[in-house]
Amino acid sequence: MKKILVTGALGQIGSELIMKLRDIYGADQVIATDIRKNEEDPVVQSGPFEVLDVTDGNRMFELAKKHGVDTIMHLAALLSATAEAKPLLAWNLNMGGLVNALEAARELNCQFFTPSSIGAFGPTTPKDNTPQDTIQRPTTMYGVNKVSGELLCDYYHQKFGVDTRGVRFPGLISYVAPPGGGTTDYAVDIYYKAIQHGAYTSYIGKGTYMDMMYMPDALNAIVSLMEADASKLIHRNAFNVTAMSIEPEDVAAAIRKHIPEFTLSYEVDPVRQAIADSWPNSIDATAAMQEWGFKAEYDLDKMTEDMLAKLRGKLLQQVG
Ligand code: SER
Repeated sequence: MKKILVTGALGQIGSELIMKLRDIYGADQVIATDIRKNEEDPVVQSGPFEVLDVTDGNRMFELAKKHGVDTIMHLAALLSATAEAKPLLAWNLNMGGLVNALEAARELNCQFFTPSSIGAFGPTTPKDNTPQDTIQRPTTMYGVNKVSGELLCDYYHQKFGVDTRGVRFPGLISYVAPPGGGTTDYAVDIYYKAIQHGAYTSYIGKGTYMDMMYMPDALNAIVSLMEADASKLIHRNAFNVTAMSIEPEDVAAAIRKHIPEFTLSYEVDPVRQAIADSWPNSIDATAAMQEWGFKAEYDLDKMTEDMLAKLRGKLLQQVG
């Protein structure tokens, strides 16, 4: 991994991954791309940036070639709730973008990363401690995209020898990109509202467990997997990774350690609740630990402390 093209660079993961990759590999070595350009964004200001619609395979190939990249990280995708509202758009963007990125990687002999998700599981998957290799019959468009994507990445490795790698991310929590379009986003929004209003109304019901991870752990996971010795990878694509299995009350209790008067109420959104109910309560990340040393540093309390501190700083800055 020396010169890297990243799609979806202004999105949830990209906003932070770009900065980390530029720290490690050098600002000019990381080509950030997104469908829109925001001149104010640190991603745009800190190094090379190109406008790219991932459904335009020719432009993706030309940009990767022009910059001489040896790695493609394909992040551009619609998240679960948006995909459920616009299933055809999700299919075209999520699958069309992925196959274009894989084709560019094949033709230019690039290493390749794309994230899958806990959304790749479905209601018939074992719900607790969900194994790495298990039943995957998701009932959402996002899940259908993610399983298809996992298979497509396997195929490009087996058929064409592309060095494809990937993880199944749980809900990712961060203070940088605002929440948007995900089912797990309640666990981001709750921190904003705790600071701004001391109260949050959750669209995900009480007792609904889902896996989550703090963004610094997610970024470390990406870099570790991409740097891992290929001969040790048995699974290669779509490793289960997680840091915690939590429900809304757990997050509220962790927040109350810092904001004692914080209150949590519920107004369940049936669409997002149904998506959450079809996903595992907790997944087993043993394969990732064994094959490339995955480890999460942040549990719920450590994440909450950092999240509240960083978010307070950010929100104060916006006011000031
Ligand atoms: N965070 C994602 C979502 O909720 C799951 O991969 O859509």
